Amino acid sequence: MELCVALDLPSRKENLRLAEKLADYDIWLKVGFRTFIRDGRAFLDELKAISPRFRLFLDLKLYDIPNTMADAAEEIAQMGVDMFNLHASAGKKGMRTVMERLESYEKRPLVLAVTALTSFSYHDFKEIYGADIDEKAAWFALQAYQAGCDGVVCSVYESRAIKHETDRNFLTLTPGVRPFGESSDDQQRVADLAAAKREGVDIIVVGRPVYRADDPAGVVKRILESL
Ligand code: C5P
Repeated sequence: MELCVALDLPSRKENLRLAEKLADYDIWLKVGFRTFIRDGRAFLDELKAISPRFRLFLDLKLYDIPNTMADAAEEIAQMGVDMFNLHASAGKKGMRTVMERLESYEKRPLVLAVTALTSFSYHDFKEIYGADIDEKAAWFALQAYQAGCDGVVCSVYESRAIKHETDRNFLTLTPGVRPFGESSDDQQRVADLAAAKREGVDIIVVGRPVYRADDPAGVVKRILESL
């Protein structure tokens, strides 16, 4: 299992300061919408300059027509990002177009598909997709697998079933992890490290328990030691 730290602090400066504190570790760093829209590609280069050991996950959750997603995927691949994501609900054709377009890249980023946003309640999901969230999430994962994606973003509690439906090497990345039982904040279905391990998760995403800690590097060290 690997650790991905979410760089969700409000400014470029604070995110860079956090990254500097974590430079000694082999971890993923997650760069989301807000940071990327504000700080752009230059910020990704700054992170790589802090430590070549960082692997970068660009969390932009692409959703568009197949050709537009594939164009964006190529731009992302050329930025030297190690992983990005798209919405599985953009369709199998879209996901397949992206994967085909990336075939020519010798070192392409990993591509993960978002099954269902964890902020959706059962009712919200049904209203949008006309289906039950648990069934449809597994179905989206299967579509992503068949389209050639490398894995999915899902909750810890879906990881095992998704691997069972697809392949055990099909990656699962799970947000909402509270490594040592810290506050769940606004997350609905939180899990600790032990649960993530038990459910066979490949990459855990941890934000607040790391960046809000007095000693973020200490928390990261503790997490890595117990993986
Ligand atoms: O602070 P916390 O550990 O809850 O951060 C989780 C990170 O994962 C945040 O960046 C959040 O936006 C992201 N995320 C999530 N649920 C998803 C997808 C992404 O919490 N389904």
